[in-house]
Amino acid sequence: MKKTLLLMMSLSLALFVSCRHDSETMADRFVEDLLQKMTLEEKIGQLNQLSGDYRQTGPNRVSADKIAEIEKGALGSVLNVFGAETTRKLQEHALKSRLGIPLVFAQDVIHGFRTTFPIPLAEAASWDLEVIERSARIAGEEAAAAGIHWTFAPMVDVTRDPRWGRVMEGAGEDPYLGSQIARARVRGFQGAGVGAVDAVAACAKHFAAYGAAQAGRDYHTTDMSERTLREIYFPPFQAAVDAGAATFMSAFNELNGVPATGNRFLLRTVLRDEWNYGGVVVSDWGAIRELVPHGYAADDRDAAFKAILAGCDIDMESNCYNRFLAELVRQGEVPEALVDEAVRRVLRLKYDLGLFEDPFRFCDTVREQTVLADASHRLAAREVAERSVVLLDNKSGVLPLDAGARRIALIGPLAKSERDMKGAWSIQWDDRELVSLYEGLTERVPVGTEIRYARGCGIDSSDRSGFAEAVAAARASDVVVMAVGEAFDMSGEARSRTDIGLPGVQEELIKAVWATGKPIVVVLMCGRPMTIEWTAEHVGAILCTWWLGSEAGNAIARVLYGDYNPSGKLPMTFPRSVGQIPLYYSLKNTGRPAPDDHAISYGSAYIDSPNAPRYAFGHGLSYTTFDYSELQLSTDRMSVDGRMVVSCTVTNSGSRDGEEVVQLYVRDLVGSVTRPV
Ligand code: NOJ
Repeated sequence: MKKTLLLMMSLSLALFVSCRHDSETMADRFVEDLLQKMTLEEKIGQLNQLSGDYRQTGPNRVSADKIAEIEKGALGSVLNVFGAETTRKLQEHALKSRLGIPLVFAQDVIHGFRTTFPIPLAEAASWDLEVIERSARIAGEEAAAAGIHWTFAPMVDVTRDPRWGRVMEGAGEDPYLGSQIARARVRGFQGAGVGAVDAVAACAKHFAAYGAAQAGRDYHTTDMSERTLREIYFPPFQAAVDAGAATFMSAFNELNGVPATGNRFLLRTVLRDEWNYGGVVVSDWGAIRELVPHGYAADDRDAAFKAILAGCDIDMESNCYNRFLAELVRQGEVPEALVDEAVRRVLRLKYDLGLFEDPFRFCDTVREQTVLADASHRLAAREVAERSVVLLDNKSGVLPLDAGARRIALIGPLAKSERDMKGAWSIQWDDRELVSLYEGLTERVPVGTEIRYARGCGIDSSDRSGFAEAVAAARASDVVVMAVGEAFDMSGEARSRTDIGLPGVQEELIKAVWATGKPIVVVLMCGRPMTIEWTAEHVGAILCTWWLGSEAGNAIARVLYGDYNPSGKLPMTFPRSVGQIPLYYSLKNTGRPAPDDHAISYGSAYIDSPNAPRYAFGHGLSYTTFDYSELQLSTDRMSVDGRMVVSCTVTNSGSRDGEEVVQLYVRDLVGSVTRPV
């Protein structure tokens, strides 16, 4: 019996392997045949990617000259165009080209499409891989229903500098957590695999070290040892490769003197040779052209030459390949084989997406309407939002709110905001579908509760004329909820800040309200770790809610009332001051490890600040308490590639249900190379 079973299993395995092998050969053969038919210009067309004229003329416009390019086969993919109907029309133009090669439609689907999920940094605070995967799954499903084949996500850049605006797009400071999340997001976007009609191809970006921009200034230089690159910045990219990410995007920044988009070490030695990666590499927007201002290429022609040689397959919005690549090949400077290699990868992506079989398979308007109206997506968005909230402080015990408190003052410039709840990089077109904190709270408060709203001040203004109204509202209430933080466009691409404190006069507003002596909860809505020293020291209850997306207000109201007991943990350190940056948990010990206040004794410390952050990576409280006991190791020795199981008993010792993320930190105490704490 056993033998038969084994035999059957090996037979089916053999069949599977041979089927897989057959389909691989079929795909390769198809691509090869097509490639043979293509002129050099048609090949280069596949490497050319342009945007719809989204910004200038409203969504989904594509100018007549671009349509002409499409019909000539001079454009292989388009970004910033979506909708089943619009993409169908453009695809029809593509089919008019000599070989009728379909277009690929790409879009930055970063944290949701129609349904906006929390910003990626917020989701990372859930430390919940299933939830993160589900969010990407729904985003992928909605995007695919709207004609999109390819998302430029996930961003897997490790980052340790909260001044950098793009921290909101990633998973924070840690390569291990970042790698787990990279896998979950790739799995979520790609669903059953590239080609599934309810999924999109993922893109691991920005390769590499973009998150290490000097001084946190976007697009700035990065310079680091190869060890740091491999140990800290590469792992999430490797994880994305392991998870089957269909594509990669090269970064804007230079790395150790060579811009990433022209960096052979990154794009060939590491990605192709070491990691054996076979997917498409797309440049970031205009990044090939930017090799010129970097001082790495003499002109656009030289930029095209350097980028293709380095291994960048698709030119996004630089117009360098379509202007110079044919000439470079004809003059013998670029071997045509190199172009073929890149084109093969692009055609293979189109093949895997099933577009040669049916170019319109993502253009179903009925499916689009059904999927985008799916009410379960809103529910999922609320659940993900709840799990993304981090309870930073509750020393006053004000949270959860007492249902008996019948007079609530809701104060602050973000209390009624809807747009800011979306955060940066959002696509959802109808702001009315966003729930503000005011709306969420109004829905949730017990019957008979009165909410007194006062804006107090603007997010980034110096006008204090609303303070008096805010103070009066606080005085007339039992408890005060203050919604403060950043506007959606203070974080994200090109949104670096040198001061990461509360903008404008918001801290002054908190001080004025605090002076009333009323119990206060600060709800911090932000796209990065912030410095909130005064608030942290004086206000007894602080919830970090980031930007939570479509269901923000409902999720926050439920957390405020304890319907959901917060379990989020910081994926990135909150420093006390900008002067401590870069500050992250896995620092080196130094030869002079110092207790915080011992700088004067020549320890590694400051004379004007503790070393410790305000809130460390991994920090996050709950409305209940957990005790850890019976810590056990399965062995007291472990080889380099060995395995050790660490277990413990976690007891909920409080009076409410709750969830806990158990974290384990390890350090090699002595080594031929020092290891981080
Ligand atoms: C520039 C950004 O850096 C990148 O992340 C994005 O995918 C492209 N623009 C396309 O919008």
